[in-house]
Amino acid sequence: MKNKKIMLVVGARPNFMKMKPVYEALKKYSYLDIRIIHTGQHYDYEMSQVFFENLCLPRPDIFLNVRSGTHGAQTAKAIEGLEDVFVREHPDLVVVFGDVNSTLAASISASKLMIPIAHVEAGLRSFDRTMPEEVNRVVTDVLSSLLFVTEESGVKNLKNEGIQDSRIYLVGNTMIDTLFQLKKYTNSDKLREFDVKKSEYTLVTLHRPFNVDDPRRLERIISILDKLGEEHPVLFPIHPRTKKRLEEFNIRSNGNLKIIPPLNYIDFLNLQRYSGLVITDSGGIQEETTVLGVPCITVRPNTERPITEEIGTNVVLKERPLEDIIDLGNEVFSGKWKKGRIPELWDGKAGERIAKVIYKHLLG
Ligand code: UD1
Repeated sequence: MKNKKIMLVVGARPNFMKMKPVYEALKKYSYLDIRIIHTGQHYDYEMSQVFFENLCLPRPDIFLNVRSGTHGAQTAKAIEGLEDVFVREHPDLVVVFGDVNSTLAASISASKLMIPIAHVEAGLRSFDRTMPEEVNRVVTDVLSSLLFVTEESGVKNLKNEGIQDSRIYLVGNTMIDTLFQLKKYTNSDKLREFDVKKSEYTLVTLHRPFNVDDPRRLERIISILDKLGEEHPVLFPIHPRTKKRLEEFNIRSNGNLKIIPPLNYIDFLNLQRYSGLVITDSGGIQEETTVLGVPCITVRPNTERPITEEIGTNVVLKERPLEDIIDLGNEVFSGKWKKGRIPELWDGKAGERIAKVIYKHLLG
């Protein structure tokens, strides 16, 4: 039997942990050649390579060096680079992850060449088209043949959009597979490096244009975090976009907020696991905190991951004023937060389920 070639396309930080379990599960099958293509959307050592090292992933087979730019320019460069690769290599399937510009680019390149696409983390919807990620999700799902969904809401969304049942697979969450696999490397002793104590500090990540590109909003957020820092230490591993904006707008913390460089996967997981509270605008962190049972406040008007609010530890700020974060933070530290539970199928086996479907699809 002739081997089938599968190309896994990644580009930005959150893609790497979603890809790992799929890569590892596919590698166990015979008759499959697996290649990793990295667009280079994220290119700094601490946004990219350190994750390959931490996650024990091999170096990408192809690296495209797309780097930053406007959404149009970045996506276009990735489309062009990926088209070259797909024309040269003739993959039988392209697998894309999440909702970043590289996901969209790979879906467009592959579909124009009539190469089937599998989308891992399909169906999530914030119903907010001002978010670039929402546009990326909708287009990717329309173009994909195999849609791997993390939570029930995603199945409903895809059906509402007219996607046939036969393309939809509720498989669980590969990002959580990675979390379960690497949790054993976390250790509360490591908190000493950051001068914080278990359950007594807040961990912050904010990078969405909506929160960081408007100087007045960013200034309010920093002063709220400073305020929270009066009671409990606040650690903020900073995303390059946010760092740039703080410098550009000349916004500074009063010193209560501890801004640190972006962290590798294991150090970040460690800080998440033992924190008292997480404040974020990330997608994946809403899910990770739900699994870790850590209270999470999501500084966004909506979420594409409603299960984390319905049964998990997440509260989405929605239209409430930013200053409510202080009251919510006080609730957390006085022990009044909901407990939450882990969603169905978030059991560490999503990658295996996906590989099984892919193998059957390609080899019968
Ligand atoms: C991207 C994703 C977002 C994801 C986030 C995680 C899209 C539309 N957005 O947003 O969904 O949550 O990644 O990190 O794809 N930069 C660096 N070094 C890097 C990478 C980026 O300095 O290694 C700078 C860029 O120069 C740019 C900014 O960070 O100014 C934003 O990078 P970009 O990849 O465009 O989007 P993110 O905001 O990271």
